[in-house]
Amino acid sequence: MSDMRPILFFDSGVGGLSVLGPTRALLPAAPFVYVADSAGFPYGTKSEAEIAARVPALLGRLAERYRPRLIVIACNTASTIALAAVRAALDLPIVGTVPAIKPAAAISVTRAIGVLGTKATVRQPYVDDLTARFASDCLVLRHGSAELVELAEAKLRGTATDPARYAAVLDGLLSQPGGERIDTIVNACTHFPLVEAELTAAAPRAIRFVDGSAGIARRVATLTQGQEWPDAAGEGRAVFTGGNADIAALAPALARYGLNRLEPL
Ligand code: DGL
Repeated sequence: MSDMRPILFFDSGVGGLSVLGPTRALLPAAPFVYVADSAGFPYGTKSEAEIAARVPALLGRLAERYRPRLIVIACNTASTIALAAVRAALDLPIVGTVPAIKPAAAISVTRAIGVLGTKATVRQPYVDDLTARFASDCLVLRHGSAELVELAEAKLRGTATDPARYAAVLDGLLSQPGGERIDTIVNACTHFPLVEAELTAAAPRAIRFVDGSAGIARRVATLTQGQEWPDAAGEGRAVFTGGNADIAALAPALARYGLNRLEPL
């Protein structure tokens, strides 16, 4: 008998699509439910207490409703703050998304890397820990940007964005002492790979951008290895928790990720 249980992706907005993309490529038969917590967006400007109270409770509700086989928290802010609490509360595999400092440190030639995330992510002890474990011989500079999250949301709604704004975000990292040595930047917010082309074009020199999405896709494939999938090709639905998300404008972008059914929670 085929197993209809979906894989549930979770983010505050459209950022998790950067993780869904490579996962769908590896698992074309998998059904996906993509949940954007539009009522709670943005996460990056919220306090630790707000995220810690909101995310486990909401994921508990979503797990009851959609009965997923696995949940991907496709959000660095939620993962670095609430991953342990979600795992403790739910009895199913939970894959988190945390800053890709390890692969960035592995490829940096100058031994200077940047971590570009939300304001909430870049101040997390989780990032101190990843830095100490995997990049202790590197200069690691951090910059938190709410604006880049807004730019990615706008781009996916088909709105043109000003190249100067990407340059200004990068300057927040590269103008710090030692920033001129950075050759690798970790996109430590799932929204940022969605604007990687714009960041690359705005960078004052050749800089490599790194994120964890391919590794997460492989992890999901490993965790679901040997499982049954529905007989028909994988179905995708996008669920919004509320707020003023201007969902209609997102429909073409969501369809490119196989999310053809759009619904409120
Ligand atoms: N996409 C999210 C992340 O990876 C957060 C964006 C936001 O809501 O601020 O951190």
